Amino acid sequence: MKTSGGSDAAKRRAGESAVEAVDDGDVVGLGTGSTAAHAIRALGNRVDAGLDICGVATSFASRELALDVGIPLIDLDEAVGPDAPGIDVAIDGADQVATDGTVDGAAIIKGGGAAHAREKLVDAAADRFLVVIDPSKEADVLDRPVPIEVLSSGRGVVARAVRAAEGDPTLRRAERKDGPVVTDNGNLVLDCEFGTITDPASLATTLSSTPGVVEHGLFVGLADEIHVGTDRGVRVEQ
Ligand code: 5RP
Repeated sequence: MKTSGGSDAAKRRAGESAVEAVDDGDVVGLGTGSTAAHAIRALGNRVDAGLDICGVATSFASRELALDVGIPLIDLDEAVGPDAPGIDVAIDGADQVATDGTVDGAAIIKGGGAAHAREKLVDAAADRFLVVIDPSKEADVLDRPVPIEVLSSGRGVVARAVRAAEGDPTLRRAERKDGPVVTDNGNLVLDCEFGTITDPASLATTLSSTPGVVEHGLFVGLADEIHVGTDRGVRVEQ
């Protein structure tokens, strides 16, 4: 799995810290990426030790890992809906996190693993969304490219709308293959450079209302806790 940013030990501490918040009987959203993978492995250890939970995967990769470590899975549609249990807690990584001093006001960029559409469905549906990061992901203001999942036929239309919003779109290409990245949903990803994003909520609204956008990687006001693993310990922002 692709890793980015800080040390693996810091990512592991963040993942393990968030997993401590999971209780017996919980339905748990399982994020994507190298930090979320540490949480999934730690959950697998707790399941081995008798914890009774179900997971809801946010990607093919997190599904495979969860099955590998023995976490029983249900589909998102089985977790939500009228007589369904709901999702108690979701644990997911991030590419960049900017807080305004409060976790409620945190603005997050996700989608480095091209899984942000299903991640947003699961993370937003959860009663509590716990973000797991290392310090390299923290910023005062968001300034990383925003991944946008687009219908392949809508790529040009979305790219034009991104330029109109003063962004610079680049089609994400597969690292070892001669072609574009294709998401688990069969779509393409545009990585869109907007420079410093001073009003993420407004940009999120603009992108959400653009035809052809399946989902963008701005997660604004969704986080409930941020677990920052460091080389020495963990800081939890609530
Ligand atoms: C996948 C994501 C990941 O959570 C994000 O890219 C962080 O990954 P990592 O923990 O490997 O740095 O949003 O779509």
